[in-house]
Formats: sequence, structure tokens, C-alpha cells
Amino acid sequence: CNVVVLISGSGSNLQALIDSAAQGDNPARIAAVISNRADAYGLVRAQNAGIATEVLDHKQFDGREAFDAAMMQAIDAHQPDLVVLAGFMRILTPGFVQHYSGRLLNIHPSLLPRYKGLHTHQRALDAGDAEHGCSVHFVTEELDGGPLVVQAVLPVAPDDTADSLARRVHQQEHQIYPLAVRWFAEGRLRLGAQGAMLDGEPL
Ligand code: GRF
Repeated sequence: CNVVVLISGSGSNLQALIDSAAQGDNPARIAAVISNRADAYGLVRAQNAGIATEVLDHKQFDGREAFDAAMMQAIDAHQPDLVVLAGFMRILTPGFVQHYSGRLLNIHPSLLPRYKGLHTHQRALDAGDAEHGCSVHFVTEELDGGPLVVQAVLPVAPDDTADSLARRVHQQEHQIYPLAVRWFAEGRLRLGAQGAMLDGEPL
């Protein structure tokens, strides 16, 4: 199963995916890592693992459509079965999302449908939530709104800050994202008409 990973930053989720794919029994193979930022540390992680990298700077393109068209071309050169957003901080055009429909995953640092968008940890604290976490979902045209695949839930402690929550949520992300990608690579996970399906059962 050929996987292309899109990043913009540190790439700690990418690292978890690289480590997971390196396990002998995992059919996921990371074919390439593409970043919209030349200084993304995830590019170094990919190079250290011998994975092809590419940088497409969105600022060099005249608008989202042109950028996404170039992204699709770069991605499709690797004939991906799955495209994984791992801290890719660009909003995608409908054309891009449709092109990869059913083979595009994202991870988001909240218990969706709560807290789409940014600053999720502070928003969970401000709301006084007893639980917080992260979600893997198929990407649809609605930002952070596609069908859920898997979530990790953790309790919010009275002395938690946005930073302490972010750290613990990140650790959970590194567990559930490789799991979801592995399910997909094994042919167990797919997007059905009513939502995500695992082993033929709705999630
Ligand atoms: C993660 O918190 C992820 O949920 C969000 O972007 C962050 C990426 O972190 N979409 P990293 O680059 O994988 O360390």
C-alpha cells in the first residue's frame, strides 16, 4: 500500500508512521513526504529514513487552485493508495478532496465533532471539559468534518495547561494514526456511503 504523507512542520506523527511502516508485517509503505514549507523538520525525518521528499511552497503559486493542482501532480507521481495529512496546515480545495475521496486521512487534536479548527487544547480547557483527545477521520469538503475512524480520549487534569494537554494528546496521536493507516493498508478500513467501515462494520 503506497502512502504519501503531507506535512508542514515537525512531523512527529510522520515519525510514528515511519516507525510503524518499518515493522515487517505492516503493508504500508511511505513512498514520499511532501511539505509546503522548506524548513519543516519532518523533511529531515523522511530523509533519515530514506524516503523521497519534495517541497512545494504554496507562496510560489497563484492561488489555492494552482497550488493544489501542483500538489496533485506531485502526489500522483508516487501512485498513492492513500494520502495522509500529518500536520499539513493548508486548507484543501474541493477538487483536491474529491480527487482523493476515500483515500485521504487527517488527524485532528480534539474529540471531533468538538473543536474543529485551531487552538483546540485551550478551547477544551476554557469549556471545562473533563475529557479531551484526538481523532483520525476521512477528509471531506467540510474542514475537520469527515467520517471518524478512531479517537483517543484522555482525562483533563485540574492543573492542565494548553501545553500539557497538547503533549499528552500528541502522544495519543502517535498511537492512533499508525493504527488507522495500518488498517487501511491491510484493506480493513474503507469509506462507505454511510461513513467509515472497519472489517465491513460501520465505525
Ligand atoms: C498535530 O497536533 C495534528 O493533530 C495536527 O497538527 C499537528 C502535527 O504535529 N493536525 P506533528 O507535525 O505531527 O508533530
